[in-house]
Amino acid sequence: MVVGPLSATSEKPKSLGGGLESKKMPGHFLLARLGKRVLRPGGRELTGWLVDTVGLDRSDRVVEFGPGLGATARILLACEPASYTGVERDETAANVTRDYLVKDSQGCVVASAESTGLPQGESTVVIGEAMLTMQREQRKREIVAEAWRLLAPGGRYAIHELAFVPDDVDPAVEDEVAGELSKTIHVGARPLTAAAWRQMLVEQGFTVRDETIVPMALLEPRRLIEDEGFRVLRIAANLLRDRDARKRVMGMRRVFRRHSDHLVAIGMVAIKPE
Ligand SMILES: C[S@@+](CC[C@H](N)C(=O)[O-])C[C@H]1O[C@@H](n2cnc3c(N)ncnc32)[C@H](O)[C@@H]1O
Repeated sequence: MVVGPLSATSEKPKSLGGGLESKKMPGHFLLARLGKRVLRPGGRELTGWLVDTVGLDRSDRVVEFGPGLGATARILLACEPASYTGVERDETAANVTRDYLVKDSQGCVVASAESTGLPQGESTVVIGEAMLTMQREQRKREIVAEAWRLLAPGGRYAIHELAFVPDDVDPAVEDEVAGELSKTIHVGARPLTAAAWRQMLVEQGFTVRDETIVPMALLEPRRLIEDEGFRVLRIAANLLRDRDARKRVMGMRRVFRRHSDHLVAIGMVAIKPE
């Protein structure tokens, strides 16, 4: 499966998140506009775990769902897989990812992960970070089914998402946290418990081989520095300049902090049996 680096649609590129103003923009694109590049709840640490645990080599044919601004794409490409294909529904984000793609065997299509149009059974690795949580339940299942369809037997599916803890969390707490998250990030957000993520993968036929949990600390100073390095200064300067963005980011952090007892980032690597 080869999708060339310039497989763009013919439409004129728009701004991230459709160019909405700070007050209305989805949280991940607001953070991206402010200069943030790592847009997943477990940060670089959990991505590092995921990539190590998946164990990429030069024979792997990799598909990434929702690469966003290409932060993980760069890590995956450094492993020199046989091919890389991003599937990103936001055209502007897809174009940012395409900037990192230099070979004919590397591409990024503008498509939805639930119906990628990519060939069946030709990938050895599918990876998706911080993109299932934002889908309603049926769409989550469709995306997991698409990962299954794309993978060859023995293929690995790696996810990095938000999870509720503990597994027996009160459903009323889940509703409250999901409601507050969705309101603050302006995207429907529905994390699952670790048990429920596992169950969704197993119901599709996957075997969950590895699993880990790290704190959800996306907007905490220490994690920001770990994830962004010196770029933190630019993010801070952009925040100082944009009052609406500042209010949104502080609001998001308040919600993350208020619910830190119940919210974590989870990584899982599942196998499509031979
Ligand atoms: C929170 S961002 C995470 C970006 C990147 N995976 C990362 O971890 O930095 C979610 C990304 O998934 C994309 N996305 C969401 N739903 C999608 C879908 N159904 N198909 C393809 N991309 C999707 C969004 O456009 C966005 O770029």
